[in-house]
Amino acid sequence: MNGHGYQAWLQVEGLNRMELSTELKGCYEKLLSHIVITDLTLTSHPAAATAVDELKKLAEARFGITPVVASSAELGAGIRLTVSDTSDFNPNEEALLGEEGYRLSATSIGQETGRLTVTGGSPAGLLYGTFHVIRLLLAGEDVSMLQLVERPANPLRLMNQWDNADGSIERGYAGNSIFYEQGRIHADLSRVRDYARLLASVGVNGISINNVNVHAVETTFIQRHMMPEMARIAAIFRAYAIKLYLSVNFASPVELGELRTADPLENDVRNWWAARAEELYAMLPDFGGFLVKADSEHRPGPFTYGRDHADGANMLADALAPHGGIVVWRCFVYNCTQDWRDRSTDRAKAAYDHFTPLDGRFRDNVVLQIKNGPMDFQVREPVSPLLGAMPRTNQIIEFQAAQEYTGQQRHLCYLVPQWKEALSFETYAQGEGSTVSRAVSGQLHNRPLGGIASVSNIGDDAFWTGHPLAQANLYGYGRLAWNPQLTSEEIADEWTKLTFGSSEQARTVIHQMLMSSWPIYESYTAPLGVGWMVTPHTHYGPDVDGYEYSRWGTYHFADRSGIGVNRTTANGTGYTAQYREPHRSGYESVTACPDELLLFFHHVPYEHRLHSGKTIIQHIYDTHFEGAEAAAQLLQAWTGLEGFIDSETYARVQSRHEEQAAHATHWRDVINTYFYRKSGIADERGRKIY
Ligand code: GCU
Repeated sequence: MNGHGYQAWLQVEGLNRMELSTELKGCYEKLLSHIVITDLTLTSHPAAATAVDELKKLAEARFGITPVVASSAELGAGIRLTVSDTSDFNPNEEALLGEEGYRLSATSIGQETGRLTVTGGSPAGLLYGTFHVIRLLLAGEDVSMLQLVERPANPLRLMNQWDNADGSIERGYAGNSIFYEQGRIHADLSRVRDYARLLASVGVNGISINNVNVHAVETTFIQRHMMPEMARIAAIFRAYAIKLYLSVNFASPVELGELRTADPLENDVRNWWAARAEELYAMLPDFGGFLVKADSEHRPGPFTYGRDHADGANMLADALAPHGGIVVWRCFVYNCTQDWRDRSTDRAKAAYDHFTPLDGRFRDNVVLQIKNGPMDFQVREPVSPLLGAMPRTNQIIEFQAAQEYTGQQRHLCYLVPQWKEALSFETYAQGEGSTVSRAVSGQLHNRPLGGIASVSNIGDDAFWTGHPLAQANLYGYGRLAWNPQLTSEEIADEWTKLTFGSSEQARTVIHQMLMSSWPIYESYTAPLGVGWMVTPHTHYGPDVDGYEYSRWGTYHFADRSGIGVNRTTANGTGYTAQYREPHRSGYESVTACPDELLLFFHHVPYEHRLHSGKTIIQHIYDTHFEGAEAAAQLLQAWTGLEGFIDSETYARVQSRHEEQAAHATHWRDVINTYFYRKSGIADERGRKIY
């Protein structure tokens, strides 16, 4: 496969790739004519070999030239690849670059001796630096003055596949798994290789390859007979400096019929896991570790044995520690059998309540994985108060590139701005400047581990992501995990240049479409932070009372007199107390609370006036009309691009936007009619009727 969509942001062939001026092309060709690798033994390292390979591929596919690969530094123009510990000219380089960092340095580019030197802190750093160069060349950037040093802000930059062995993908919106079919690992893993390449090109360094809900077949993945299969996959990722992780079933010893208990404090259980780890590392010496969803949504966990999350996570951590592995333990834990007539139990409070008392009890090779919000990847939620709240525990934040609640890759929703909001949120854990970004990178509390994870949004679809523009979320996730300082605009810019470089018109329009898409999606779906209002279980399409755990009433508590969840400490669920000041009082106060989160924190009458000056009811009506209108305009904007980009991509995006426009109207009508009936104070257009 090498269609436009398949090439994603590494467009070397075809209509959409960036056009280069003759001068620039000449300059690039000169650079790519020689690849000088200062130490040829380096190529025995898979990631360094990949760096050379990727440059060769680029030279051949994009420029039709075959580079000379040599070790002589005497050669003239070319790209010079080196790693700091073999470099002869800067003794401080190693400390500066760290393991994964790199330096790019141009000398006399354009002249006969023009060189671009990529110095990696390790072969992995060299690969990241090489991909940086490749991105620049594909985007047609001027590299003649290039002098930069980059190192990732986050040690862990993880991708979570929610793929099942039967080939389906939990919350997958882009076809079937590229890893599995009918209970087996695919015989042909070439797509996995291409995926690894995309991930490495934006700096992802770890991947868990099976669903966090580990069913019977995937429970066997840690058994000896599966090791050769796992090794096959690990080898592919190793070449791209990506470590393999597996989601494991906490009750594995029981479910595999080998022990009668999975109690984490039982010696037999501890030994059982230690033996599995031995076997794994014998075949996969660089195995990353385990991802665990325990005591959550009916998954087994330590609670069954009267133990807590720290007991469970530490037991697995002890098994992996001798081999350098880690445990990523998810905090998505709440009571999903809650009776919503009981308004004192609040799902939003659950993760914080479960985990903060355990601060300081987790091993150093355990990292807690926390969803960006306290609920579940809604279009708008406050930032989880658990982030930054455990100074003696490693944490990573979890995003969901898969658009479960944000239009399922049928609607356009560029999520980078949402993620940016979460990362730049002040936790105030150590006063001002204690952002989530610094908390999860490990910097704030000086933790050995930290980072970001995302649920993947790809499948075996020809465009990888169903909606071709949803690739921007995959790209953006990787770039942000590497450097959270990048702005949403910068990322959108990079991505559109790389993906639709040939047409300035297309770039401008697509950039605008991306940047407007999250607010548009928000405006015609659940209002003011209240969340859900989607069809139960499928989570696509409007159903105002459809929250699956609300059999006994609505979770948003909309009635004739008002709407929203009272989460105040004064007379609500008390959730606001989980925040530090000034957020605590800010959210507690109905007047200070930001409009976009008002219904998350407060139950207010429909005639309550927002900071915008509008009443709640008027806001709901207006935004739903505006949102549906804006969705129609997205379609129109796209239609204007016919002929500017390749026809397959054009047609796919066109059909997605036709669906979005129609579906947004449906959302508008369902939501507005509901509130018109419920409140009895307005007509379908929000006009007062009494
Ligand atoms: C959501 C999602 C589930 C998923 C869960 C999780 O609830 O709907 O499919 O398993 O999140 O993150 O574990």
